[in-house]
Amino acid sequence: MKLLLLLITASFLLNEVYPWRIFRNGRMVGGNVGIPKPDKRREGVRDIPEEWFTQSLDHFNPTDERTWQQRYFSNDQYFDSTAGGPVFIMIGGEGEASVSWMTRGSWIDDAEKHGALLFQLEHRYYGKSHPTEDMSTENLRYLTSQQALADLATFITAMNKNYSLPADVKWIAFGGSYPGSLAAWLRFKYPHLVHGAMSASGPLLAEVDFLNYFKVVSESLATYSDDCVTAVQQGVDQIGTLLKQEIGQENLNEMFNLCNPIQESLENPSDISNLYETIADNFAGVVQYNKDKRMNNRAAANITIDVVCEIMVNQTIGPPVNRLGKVNELLLSTYDEKCLDYQYDKMIDSLRNVSWDSEAAEGGRQWTYQTCTEFGFYQTSSYEPHIFGDQFPISFFIQQCEDIYGDIYDADFIDGAIDRTNTLYGGLDIEVSNVVYVHGSIDPWHALGIIKTVDESAPAIYIEGTAHCANMYPPADTDLPELTAARQQVSELIDSWLKN
Ligand SMILES: *[C@@H]1O[C@H](CO)[C@@H](O)[C@H](O)[C@H]1NC(C)=O
Ligand SMILES: *[C@@H]1O[C@H](CO)[C@@H](O)[C@H](O)[C@H]1NC(C)=O
Ligand SMILES: *[C@@H]1O[C@H](CO)[C@@H](O)[C@H](O)[C@H]1NC(C)=O
Ligand SMILES: *[C@@H]1O[C@H](CO)[C@@H](O)[C@H](O)[C@H]1NC(C)=O
Repeated sequence: MKLLLLLITASFLLNEVYPWRIFRNGRMVGGNVGIPKPDKRREGVRDIPEEWFTQSLDHFNPTDERTWQQRYFSNDQYFDSTAGGPVFIMIGGEGEASVSWMTRGSWIDDAEKHGALLFQLEHRYYGKSHPTEDMSTENLRYLTSQQALADLATFITAMNKNYSLPADVKWIAFGGSYPGSLAAWLRFKYPHLVHGAMSASGPLLAEVDFLNYFKVVSESLATYSDDCVTAVQQGVDQIGTLLKQEIGQENLNEMFNLCNPIQESLENPSDISNLYETIADNFAGVVQYNKDKRMNNRAAANITIDVVCEIMVNQTIGPPVNRLGKVNELLLSTYDEKCLDYQYDKMIDSLRNVSWDSEAAEGGRQWTYQTCTEFGFYQTSSYEPHIFGDQFPISFFIQQCEDIYGDIYDADFIDGAIDRTNTLYGGLDIEVSNVVYVHGSIDPWHALGIIKTVDESAPAIYIEGTAHCANMYPPADTDLPELTAARQQVSELIDSWLKN
């Protein structure tokens, strides 16, 4: 999701102290799919202008005639109009849509091969697609995956007309991360409009307590060495010890470059939870994007599992807790953060801001809302052994829903919301054809996706050694052979769908 986002993210990162974390709840600021690097094989790609589509606010209430402008991009440079298709659509997700995907990424190779017309539709409430005047909790009630799927269906129908496409035109949906889920669900809900879907790293099962997220994070660190995992666990344990003594508290302030002295937060369990979770997320963010081909924030792309584990096992630095501090220091400097901000109330305040001009409008407020009302996905510290401590249980996340959006968003509400989502889409039992699920072994999100083929008409590709959405980026010389093979397999599946 982004070239524009690059600029926006960069300006966030450089000019302002970010009020909440760069990486939170398994989501990167700006959204989970990065900007693909320019493709050396395609120089002089065309300029793609923004376009706007008049969309219904509420697809499920025919008496509500309100509309809004939804942003999209199109590219017909590969389109063979005499053949009348196919049409490929990149689904926007939990961040601003990036125009760079219109000319880059592995889907472009397939578009070229098949003479496809290309679209990308930005997800409602993200980027510049603002259905309501602000993001008040009242207005966010039109922010649901069902409305987003109906947006896509309406858009597809309109484009079929506008481009005079033949009645049997074949649309293929593409998406990574949450849009990966949407791609599969779009094919599931609207099979008459969408012929196939490439679903990358999409979580299909809504789950309140996503405790396996940090299981995969620690397993991924263990691919470097078990010592790395042990050192993380020992370091986290030492934080607990230091918190109990005055000298230890002073040490923590310095070691983790805390924005506010920890002594002021000792009576505030949410601050302490937030501190532990932030330190855990230092590792989660590195794992989730390990060695991928994003080009936004090149410095961050250099920080890999190898880099953080080299620090964690380096005894010269000091005891494990000092090494955790060193990893933290490296990430703060990479993201140009002055200090580690772990204050809970400050984070909640910024997520309460309903203005489209606020920092939370990059997607933090909207995505958190979708987790509270549809998906859960809370990456708790409940998995045992507690490598990252046990200080951010599910109650900590539910508290956030209540504190940001109101008291009704409590544990029962969220349980109901998750049940509804799994009822609507089928969770891991989704019955659908012409969908390929692609996942990477070190991407923690694979734990909520389909990673084994149970149905030949909707196969899964599980790539050993790659991270989030890796197959969507343009091929590179440094790609693992497993990744190259996965792209090839996806391409062959698309060929076969388009043949019949
Ligand atoms: C219809 O397609 C043309 C290009 O063929 C484009 O200029 C126009 O904006 C499209 N209309 C809508 C409603 O998207
Ligand atoms: C990333 O690492 C490469 C190779 O080690 C180095 O040349 C480059 O300068 C680094 N980039 C940044 C932004 O740190
Ligand atoms: C370990 O850390 C020390 C002190 O920061 C550093 O000088 C040394 O190069 C590191 N060793 C390795 C193997 O990274
Ligand atoms: C929300 O964010 C905007 C833009 O940054 C800011 O001007 C406004 O003061 C914030 N509102 C609140 C209530 O903090």
